[in-house]
Amino acid sequence: MNVNLQNLNSTHKPRIFNNPERFVEGWYWVMPSKQLRVTEVKSVKILGRELAIYRGKDKKVVIVDAYCPHMGAHLAEGKVEGNELRCFFHHWKFDEEGFCVDIPCINQPISIKLQTWPTAEKYGMIWVWTGDIPKQSLPFVLELENKEYDVALGDYFLMNCHPNTFMINPIDVQHFQTVHKLSSEIAFEKQEINQNAIIFSNSKPIPKKSISSVLIRLLCKKNIAHNVCYWYGSTNIVTIGTDFFHVYIMFAMRLLEGGKSEGQVMLMTEKRRGIFGWFYNRVVLSLTKILGTHFIQDDVKIFQTIQFDLKTPIKADNSIMQFVNHLERQKPLMLKTWKLARSQNVEIKETREKEYDTKSND
Ligand code: FES
Ligand SMILES: [Fe+2]
Repeated sequence: MNVNLQNLNSTHKPRIFNNPERFVEGWYWVMPSKQLRVTEVKSVKILGRELAIYRGKDKKVVIVDAYCPHMGAHLAEGKVEGNELRCFFHHWKFDEEGFCVDIPCINQPISIKLQTWPTAEKYGMIWVWTGDIPKQSLPFVLELENKEYDVALGDYFLMNCHPNTFMINPIDVQHFQTVHKLSSEIAFEKQEINQNAIIFSNSKPIPKKSISSVLIRLLCKKNIAHNVCYWYGSTNIVTIGTDFFHVYIMFAMRLLEGGKSEGQVMLMTEKRRGIFGWFYNRVVLSLTKILGTHFIQDDVKIFQTIQFDLKTPIKADNSIMQFVNHLERQKPLMLKTWKLARSQNVEIKETREKEYDTKSND
């Protein structure tokens, strides 16, 4: 396997991976769809940015910057009228593209636009794209594309580490044996699907007796398939199953300030027909949820206390390094501003210039 060991040498720190100020431009989960009713508006903070989210009468979700461009009132205090949002303070109204369409005290609204962000709904979840125009698809389960599926919402969770650090857990082959008491024989092959997505596939069986393997075997009798697909370095989909039966566990995460993260688990399986199929899928999704929770419980104490620094990578860490290399080639944005993050040197130079300017103005 061709792995660039140099890239994880401690003298060459990754630009994006595990950086508490950065994330990759992409689609990120916002909230479960059922938590936003028609004509309801809410306040959300995503990747350090304050936003207002509402669902218009046409059922479409709109996400806008939180503060009114007139005087800064929080727009989540406002009211949804049809597909538009009216600010609570002086009643300026904005349409779903952010254009100001009404100012009650004057006849003609002025030409002003509120920043809006692209939204989508899939897997029972609302998603936001952190740029003007989506350049890539939503995180999706490859095998479920163009198929009907059932989905169940799993747990919401907080982690005391960067999303990237938690993300690498399903490809950290050493810990399968040491933490989960599974096989040490796991070996992943990587395949890049596009600039923002990479899949790691393991074709080796998961033997041995442990609670994890018993739960897996309840779902799968033989030829266990096991792969992990990553999107934007912050959402992964773990696939487990046999040749005829697969279940999917999606861990969607977002960076919080202070290098912490919050996440949401989603579980999916292909739709099965009839009342028996419906019941069967409920059982499958419940067992998958138990499995996902069990795996997280084993890992949690590590991720609540870790100070991640892979100083000494060995061959068993190859997949992790491939993940880091893949992440480093994506477009980095800054937390809070969602603006392009330039290289560390440019930022340091600009800070120095600013300091110099301030001093010379004194
Ligand atoms: S602050 Fe929103 S209309 Fe004045
Ligand atoms: Fe784990």
